[in-house]
Amino acid sequence: MATSVAVILALTACGGDGGSGDTNGTGGGGNTSGVGAGTPTSSGVGAGTPTSTGNVDPTTTSTGNVDPTTTSTGNVDPTTTSTGNVDPTTSAASGGGNCSPAVDITAPSGNPFADATLFVDPGYVTKVDSSIAMVTDTALKAKMEKVKEIQTAFWLDTISAVSKLPAYLDAALKLQNELCKPVTALIVVYDLPNRDCHAKASNGELHLNENGAQRYKEEYIAPIKQILAAHSGQRIAAVIEPDSLPNIATNLGTENCDEATAQGYRDNVAHALKELNMPHVYQYIDAAHSGWLGWPDNQKKGAKIFAEVIKAAGSPANVRGFATNVANYTQLSYTTEKYEQQSNPCYGELDYVDAMASALSAEGLGDKHFIIDTSRNGVGNIRDDWGYWCNNKGAGMGQRPKANPGGATNLDAYVWVKPPGDSDGVGQSGQPRYDSFCGMPNADTRAPQAGQWFHDYFVECVKNANPPL
Ligand code: BGC
Repeated sequence: MATSVAVILALTACGGDGGSGDTNGTGGGGNTSGVGAGTPTSSGVGAGTPTSTGNVDPTTTSTGNVDPTTTSTGNVDPTTTSTGNVDPTTSAASGGGNCSPAVDITAPSGNPFADATLFVDPGYVTKVDSSIAMVTDTALKAKMEKVKEIQTAFWLDTISAVSKLPAYLDAALKLQNELCKPVTALIVVYDLPNRDCHAKASNGELHLNENGAQRYKEEYIAPIKQILAAHSGQRIAAVIEPDSLPNIATNLGTENCDEATAQGYRDNVAHALKELNMPHVYQYIDAAHSGWLGWPDNQKKGAKIFAEVIKAAGSPANVRGFATNVANYTQLSYTTEKYEQQSNPCYGELDYVDAMASALSAEGLGDKHFIIDTSRNGVGNIRDDWGYWCNNKGAGMGQRPKANPGGATNLDAYVWVKPPGDSDGVGQSGQPRYDSFCGMPNADTRAPQAGQWFHDYFVECVKNANPPL
């Protein structure tokens, strides 16, 4: 995926109800053309007091030693593990198993990350192990071992990846039955037709002009629904379609973000929200990051689109809220950066969440909650331009996943959505899906294709982790 930047000039305080601001057109606003969409009229940060992120105790959210060999994600046929006609509308309060009393999976105040063990993706552990085998430095190895206890999301980035979902969820349930306490799984729904329309690195397999909408519904969402319904005794958090609705807000008319694509995003995201609406599935729609929808006009546009799509989905009860900073590098709080802030009053992600919460409130969505991806935002000052989203050199892992970290409105958790070490996009021009942003001076151009393991980058993220591992 590729996270964009779009610029609005506005001088209002972050979280205020926004000034009008000028929209600078989208041509210069997206990730493929960087921030520079006009001259900032003020460098006014105006973001208020930076909010402390507090002391995060990684041990409280670690799953401990999950043995990847016992929880293989191998190619499992979803049809063999599905229970078939499960009624998704019935409430699933019990996790089953032999625990006495049975595990009550009800989420405290509706927050699926609270009072839960956060399930570690065994597939990620396997990737980390491959890196551990490649290094000799014992201190570095020890740090890498710690990463094996941190939850990262399980990305459903292709139709074929869906076949691995039952084993992933079975493993989370197995752990829940061993611990006799709720275990929360984290997945990403990411296979829209015409995916990643404003960039190239994560262009997907489905295309509207090749029956993509029907295939998305029948070959992708329908089996996911069936599998999730068959796992109703556990909590599942789902990030819905990174980049898609924000691209409609600011990048319409650029690259491949045409009207048909935008309508397809709206229709298919609404379809996903409606179909995956189950009591044990907590959906978080991707809501970009502060360097994209942070300007008040952009927030308003984004909030309006989110509200329209949620309404089109029938206002599903289990759209818990929004995910921000997915796969991006934006820090939680204000730090001095090399690049200009371009009048963005929402400089840090915590301020951005506050501002987005009020923009959503104005659209009647005041009940929504947030999660922030902190997987690679531990280090600031690593890019010359806010719009650089691809394999930025010098990145470090950020705050560990943690429920109710405080610091922003209705913040459910810090989460690691982008698995650190997975590439953002191939770095060598001439390769399929090469995006020029992956060849920028700040980008590590040794990178393989998006989603593939990039050992050297993982080493860097581990070494630069802040807080340290
Ligand atoms: C890629 C996906 C991958 C995900 C997680 C995205 O940028 O397009 O294929 O699963 O990152 O690494």
